[in-house]
Amino acid sequence: MKKICALVLGLLGAMNPLFAQRSNVSATPPMGWNSWNHFAEKVTEADVRAAADALVSSGMRDAGYVYVNIDDTWEGKRDAQGVIHTNDKFPDMKGLADYVHSKGLKLGIYSSPGPSTCAGYEGSYGHEDEDARTYAAWGIDYLKYDQCSFGDIIEQQAGGDQDKAASIQRAAYEKMHQAIMKAGRPMVYSFCQYGLYAVWQWGPDAGANLWRTTGDISDHWDRMSLIGFDQDGLEKFAGPGHWNDPDMLEIGNGGMTRSEYEVHMSLWAMLSAPLLAGNDLSKMTPETKSILMNRDVIAVDQDPLGHQAKRLWVEGPMEIWGKDLSGGRRVIAYFNRGEAAFDFDPRLSILAPLHGVRFKDLWSGNTIVLNEKSRLLVPRHGVLLLRQQ
Ligand code: GLA
Repeated sequence: MKKICALVLGLLGAMNPLFAQRSNVSATPPMGWNSWNHFAEKVTEADVRAAADALVSSGMRDAGYVYVNIDDTWEGKRDAQGVIHTNDKFPDMKGLADYVHSKGLKLGIYSSPGPSTCAGYEGSYGHEDEDARTYAAWGIDYLKYDQCSFGDIIEQQAGGDQDKAASIQRAAYEKMHQAIMKAGRPMVYSFCQYGLYAVWQWGPDAGANLWRTTGDISDHWDRMSLIGFDQDGLEKFAGPGHWNDPDMLEIGNGGMTRSEYEVHMSLWAMLSAPLLAGNDLSKMTPETKSILMNRDVIAVDQDPLGHQAKRLWVEGPMEIWGKDLSGGRRVIAYFNRGEAAFDFDPRLSILAPLHGVRFKDLWSGNTIVLNEKSRLLVPRHGVLLLRQQ
């Protein structure tokens, strides 16, 4: 199956170079780390180097986490030629890229199609070609492009006309895509415009490898679960080279319980979402490591078919989601969003072909065989993630 997928992607790539650039850099959802959720505006070069070191020493790189993404607040001023420079927190971006690359990792950066970023730093408006060239010269491998102040420009130019607003926004994102293509260095291109104008419908054609589908996540059960469970229905837009992005991970930041973080990791893996850790990697507990580095769960996310899960059944706060994996196997998630433990009937009527099949419980490692008499106890804010053996 892997070979067939590679062949199909190769053929599409030969016909359309834009498609080739997209699929090659994100055949499976990007994995790595991003500075924003933990460090926010305070991030420095030292923090990014420490994150790169920790990706290697913790084993995360070898589990697939290879992007080291600097979010907002690295930007300095432009010089007389319009070339962007870093600020004092990032004295040597090329040196940092070389360091990150020497560790077998890739470096990501952040900008905005507007004149300023969300944190008020210099954006790329009117300087797209120069910026893409600068990123390529530094050795950047990933760009997150965040709408921010471009929203004001859209409002000025489109007034209340939603179609016009959508086309102005799309043109701005395409412009940077073209600039990246001209700069000649393959980069993952991540749209961040919070799911406006049904971006999943046009993002891939405008050059996106991934597109945020929502506003910002936070390290709280209510926000994480609202965002994650809301992704149902978007599954048809995801696939190799182009992914829905429900935002970065909060695992290890301290605002949720172990069980809630397992739901976070399981749900993102079911959704074929990018796995961008958002915690301080230099200070991880064994629990955080075990959640982020559960190889079975990562494999669900990184399955080469790239099928995003869909909701199969819901009753109040109880949900069953299913995802097809390569090799004809399935993975089923029993989610309990409720405030008390719940004894699930496995609902074999909707999973009929899976009657009597052996599953691996991906969090406990136990084997489970489902039949009509099975009961599946799932804790409050918890998940039972079962993969066909
Ligand atoms: C927006 C984005 C966040 C982060 C910040 C940085 O809020 O959605 O992910 O990049 O901007 O300012």
